[in-house]
Amino acid sequence: MKNNKAFIPYKGVTYSKEEMIKRSKEFYEYMDKRRSLRMFSDREIPMEVIENIIKTASSAPSGAHKQPWTFCVVSNPAIKKEIRKAAEAEEYLSYNGRMTKEWLADLAVFNTDWHKEFLETVPYLIVVFKKSYDLINAQKHKNYYVNESVGLATGFLIAAIHQAGLVTLTHTPSPMIFLQKILKRPENEKPFLLLPIGFPTDGAEVPDLKRKPLEEIMVLFE
Ligand SMILES: Cc1cc2nc3c(=O)[nH]c(=O)nc-3n(C[C@H](O)[C@H](O)[C@H](O)COP(=O)(O)O)c2cc1C
Repeated sequence: MKNNKAFIPYKGVTYSKEEMIKRSKEFYEYMDKRRSLRMFSDREIPMEVIENIIKTASSAPSGAHKQPWTFCVVSNPAIKKEIRKAAEAEEYLSYNGRMTKEWLADLAVFNTDWHKEFLETVPYLIVVFKKSYDLINAQKHKNYYVNESVGLATGFLIAAIHQAGLVTLTHTPSPMIFLQKILKRPENEKPFLLLPIGFPTDGAEVPDLKRKPLEEIMVLFE
């Protein structure tokens, strides 16, 4: 049964079988080129690009359409420096005792350590915050499936960054509560992920990773 809320015609596009196969294959091949970078240049990015990628992220589905996210965009050098310092302090503790031997062994291929220069080098940091509830006139309004929703939005964000020809790193210098303090976010916003955005350095390298084959990730019930 319809309620009183307005409905509008869906304006999506459909394709022929051949076109569907072609488009889905091309999109897969394009997305498969996306990599996490850890070597960034300081080359500038137009603010309009940042705005477009954040609008793309916020087009993601969310529980009850609550869009329980805030994207903080940081270009201020002093704030970037403060974030780098705090992130490196947490990463130092993680690499020197907090992470298990197994975890450190899994990370060996990435050749990473607690140093995070790129947090200052990049033109922009995007800090994604999740809102477990909204605060409207000091009243709490619950949000639903917050982790799922914000994870999806961040996936859209990463795809949009790739589409713009830029690179990012999904970074988690945990615990990340320092981001809430440095950026003075309200109590209902908790840090979710930290994404430096920029261009790769000339000659940047990435670990030679292989992705799981389809047989390993897809189970078909016919
Ligand atoms: C939730 C999450 C947290 C991550 N945290 C870090 C991190 O703190 N530091 C880092 O160097 N890479 C981090 N990564 C990046 C992964 O190592 C990377 O996505 C993975 O190795 C696959 O490589 P690719 O993104 O190039 O395909 C993280 C990725 C995810 C999804």
